[in-house]
Amino acid sequence: MTLAIDVHDLVKRYGKRTVVDRFSLAVERGRICGFLGPNGSGKTTTLRMICGLLTPDAGGGTCLGHDLVHDREAIKRLTGYMTQRFGLYEDLTIRENLEFVGRVYGLDRLKARVDQSLEQLGLTTRQSQLAGSLSGGWKQRLALAACVLHEPKLLLLDEPTAGVDPKARRAFWDEIHTYAAEGMTVLVSTHYMDEAERCHEIAYIAYGELMARGTAEDIIRQSGLFAYIATGPGADRLALKLRDEPGVTAAAAFGTTLHVCGPDRVDLKHAIEPFRSDPNLVWQEAEPTLEDIFIHLMGQARDNAPGAKA
Ligand SMILES: Nc1ncnc2c1ncn2[C@@H]1O[C@H](COP(=O)(O)OP(=O)(O)OP(=O)(O)O)[C@@H](O)[C@H]1O
Ligand SMILES: [Mg+2]
Repeated sequence: MTLAIDVHDLVKRYGKRTVVDRFSLAVERGRICGFLGPNGSGKTTTLRMICGLLTPDAGGGTCLGHDLVHDREAIKRLTGYMTQRFGLYEDLTIRENLEFVGRVYGLDRLKARVDQSLEQLGLTTRQSQLAGSLSGGWKQRLALAACVLHEPKLLLLDEPTAGVDPKARRAFWDEIHTYAAEGMTVLVSTHYMDEAERCHEIAYIAYGELMARGTAEDIIRQSGLFAYIATGPGADRLALKLRDEPGVTAAAAFGTTLHVCGPDRVDLKHAIEPFRSDPNLVWQEAEPTLEDIFIHLMGQARDNAPGAKA
């Protein structure tokens, strides 16, 4: 097994707050690992430690075989990091942005590389347009092109498609898969469940701690959660009634369907019992979704969080 990322027990503290707490992660080469977790849970901090921009307070490991603490320059050369906010210059043209990034990396054959990148993006005819005038989806594709210009082996993408429309997100993900098929490893943070499902595997972090790891199927199988779906007139409106019942972790309406889940099958059945006699509703046991599981894990992490971290 060849690991692109192999880090263990990473810790990052800001003052007295531990924002990343003994975080370990191994990702094989060529895999796309989704990095999920609530706001402020330490995703950006972890990504920055993995690419050598932040020094961990404890822990270590390797990235593409290079030591995380002592070999940071080598790691930076082999890694493409796309920041959470648009990192290019809005008042430079598309071509100028790519050339600028290429010069920062001291790349040879700069013109040829930029030409090829523009061609691949389908932006050759628009290369003189200011980057700031691009739509959100195109900006993100340009940012991705900029971070692969130096042909990295590892891509760290921090919420690359936030606020981008579904068609552009799909194009972005198709590109990520193309890179992975060529052997690139990708660690990508996201809040979107459909994107989590497009990853080979998932790491879920809450308040600095890794809470779940594996393929979507692994995570669903290991969740220990139970779920029911109700369909029929008014099913969606039961969400409000069930949400705070004992044994219910989450109850949500999806269109006209109700989805309810909890960690104990007997308690969950007990909670829905009063509504099962409604002849208009059809109840079915179902698999919990990733979203159910993440909401459940988030609740658990809060319960366990020591005061210092809250
Ligand atoms: N330079 C800093 N100084 C102090 N606290 C910081 C610093 N950077 C991050 N933090 C805190 O560390 C915690 C983790 O932040 P981080 O940005 O890594 O979370 P995140 O998972 O990326 O969140 P989001 O989903 O909102 O992007 C947050 O509580 C944040 O306020
Ligand atoms: Mg972040």
